[in-house]
Amino acid sequence: MLVVLGLLGAGTAWAAKAPEQETTAQKLAALLVSGRAVMAEHQKLLNDPEKGDKGFSPQVFSDKVVADYLAKTGNDLKALKGAKPADEASKLLLALLEAEEEAVSEAQPVLNLKGMAFKGFTPAVFGLRTGEKFLQKTGMRLKQTSLLYRNAVNKPDTFEEATLRRFAETGWEKGKGVGALSEEGGKRVYRYMMPVYIAKPCLSCHGEPKGELDIAGRKKEGYREGELRGAISVMLKAP
Ligand code: HEC
Repeated sequence: MLVVLGLLGAGTAWAAKAPEQETTAQKLAALLVSGRAVMAEHQKLLNDPEKGDKGFSPQVFSDKVVADYLAKTGNDLKALKGAKPADEASKLLLALLEAEEEAVSEAQPVLNLKGMAFKGFTPAVFGLRTGEKFLQKTGMRLKQTSLLYRNAVNKPDTFEEATLRRFAETGWEKGKGVGALSEEGGKRVYRYMMPVYIAKPCLSCHGEPKGELDIAGRKKEGYREGELRGAISVMLKAP
């Protein structure tokens, strides 16, 4: 689904690239979702005060992400690693996987501390750091957002808020994203949003009972498994 945000001068060459950019954006969003899912699944291990070395090395993490992404999308990223990808989408995917690995690598000293329970390395913090690294590497933006955002950096902008409302409509096909040609700061960008749903490992922090504090000391939203939590928002520079 493509929306053109009131752009009178939208170039046709630019618009012609939209389907390709949509595929790229979908892959990137899915890879960030996989990284966040692996982070969510390992919160218990990572926040175990009895354990020192958690064995959650960037390599171990990366293998799990590649497996999760393969299971969800049918695409195997193993072949990409170590190769020199020629196409733009593969280059970006590899850069994102590297950004995710670097975020986990930098967190190792904290993650491997013994005697400390909550380490603060939630899926959201992982996602934020990964997004910063990805921006530095590629100039492309990845953001996680929600109507019920906890951190102001994740606050939806106008397009994101409108799209999140559409995702929340009854009858919205589960998992269906929205792409749009837009302008940000005078530059043409391709925007894409992929809805994110609550899975079992998210419930300890975002589930019921609503208002109870999670391990991060924040109020749980009272979500149930399968409910819409928010979205991954992608901004690609126009080709
Ligand atoms: C260990 C607790 C914890 C777990 C598990 C967890 N989250 Fe979060 N989540 C947080 C915290 C804390 C924030 C606030 C953002 C920050 O700290 O920067 C957050 C923020 C978010 C945001 C960004 C919007 C906002 O509130 O700022 C999304 C989207 C999100 N979580 C989705 C999920 C999903 C989906 C899962 C499961 C795959 C999950 N979270 C698992 C603690 C958690």
